[in-house]
Amino acid sequence: HSVNPFEMVLFGGNGDLVTRKIIPALYYRFRDDALPDDCRITGAARRDMSRDEYLALTRECCKRYLAAGDFSEEVWESFAQHLDYLKVDATAPDDFQLLARFLSESSHREKVYYLATAPDLFTTICTHLGEAGLATPESRVVLEKPLGRDLESAGKINREVAKVFKEHQIYRIDHYLGKEAVQNLIALRFGNALFEPLWQRGSIRDVQITLAEQVGVEGRGPFYDNTGALRDMVQNHLLQLLCIIAMEPPASIDPDAVRDEKLKVLRALRPLVGRDVVANTVRGQYRAGAIGGTPVRGYLDEDGIASDSHTESFVALKAEIDSWRWAGVPFFLRTGKRLQERLAEIVVTFRQVPHSIFSGDAAPAPNRLVIRLQPDDGVQLMLMAKEPGDTMDLRPVSLDLNFSKTFGSRKADAYERLLMDCLRGKLTLFMRRDEVDAAWRWVEPILDVWEQSGEAPKPYTAGTWGPAASSALMGRSGFSWREES
Ligand code: BG6
Repeated sequence: HSVNPFEMVLFGGNGDLVTRKIIPALYYRFRDDALPDDCRITGAARRDMSRDEYLALTRECCKRYLAAGDFSEEVWESFAQHLDYLKVDATAPDDFQLLARFLSESSHREKVYYLATAPDLFTTICTHLGEAGLATPESRVVLEKPLGRDLESAGKINREVAKVFKEHQIYRIDHYLGKEAVQNLIALRFGNALFEPLWQRGSIRDVQITLAEQVGVEGRGPFYDNTGALRDMVQNHLLQLLCIIAMEPPASIDPDAVRDEKLKVLRALRPLVGRDVVANTVRGQYRAGAIGGTPVRGYLDEDGIASDSHTESFVALKAEIDSWRWAGVPFFLRTGKRLQERLAEIVVTFRQVPHSIFSGDAAPAPNRLVIRLQPDDGVQLMLMAKEPGDTMDLRPVSLDLNFSKTFGSRKADAYERLLMDCLRGKLTLFMRRDEVDAAWRWVEPILDVWEQSGEAPKPYTAGTWGPAASSALMGRSGFSWREES
């Protein structure tokens, strides 16, 4: 799959995402000869900056964010020849005329506009691109999350962008879909005959998905306080993972085949409204505590956070999918900042054996399939085995697959994969408009109930696994989170 000559314009070109993730990702793809010689990557932002200043900035970022030992002066020198900077004020139509002139030198290159800006600029930028004649049929636009803050604002962005770009030109990023382990989940489910017959309510007891972080709000206080964990992580990353676990086998890996199946899952999620929200969701907010022995501030004392904020930094919830395959199987989702560990995993727990033939009090532990995304990715299958010796005592053991050990290669960042897919015109790992809508439609009533209740989120100490109510939520179904069982 070769990549055609391209022009990539990075709006928000000196912002956090571009400097921390996108430029380093492009550096790696360049180093590994995945980019064509004929390409240019241009940072675009409001600030007046010379090309040299931009190179100095991005060079520093590469040095800081590439894995230790991966920065090479020689690679940088040749990579930098493809970098440029242009001052573009997103709200100034004239600047887009300048951009058009800038890009006209290379009309044969495919244009990719990457909008790594606040979402309230998406519409403005797209409109101006359109007016400047830059939204040609071969061009693409990449939209970063968050795509709006509710169904209405997301709908508005999508409608406005659609006036300029056709759906097949729009790449809505959910970087979790670019993670190796998530694609491995697709491989695991649909590349093996073993799991599919068991992948349903008759065999699976429950599914847990945890996206736990140790970091706090990290200089993003005002943004985060206006967003919260449900919008920041559940509406997108967690629901996308749930879709990949729960979807029916698509007929092919084509974008619409996969996205149609994911959409069906989102539409089959049982709505949580009114009292269901109270019974099935937990929201929390961290208080001062310690992470790995280092004391950290509480949420309300972070910079840029309102001192009486009710924004949640933790969510746990129980979701159900009303379908023949999944009726009655609870999906427990949980995410939070300042938790005990950095851990992203999916745990599929199978039903217990129907009858134990072994003596002793303990019934065999149920089999579990653990798909780990972070910190290191792998798959574990927990089985019961006999303890060596002359008794018949059983004990859980694991079949363990560690991807980096097995494949021994560097783990590429999610953005590397997604940028390459975008350059190749492959939409499978990007979200379609109707998926975004369906996810908001499910999430919004939860937000409404929380807001109307006027209640504060439950406090939890930084460095723990969240409020006690999160264990209680599990407990009411007779289960517990993996680290508690
Ligand atoms: C982003 C959220 O989408 O994902 C951040 O906005 C969060 O709040 C991040 O920290 C987590 O991503 P990762 O890849 O570090 O697990």
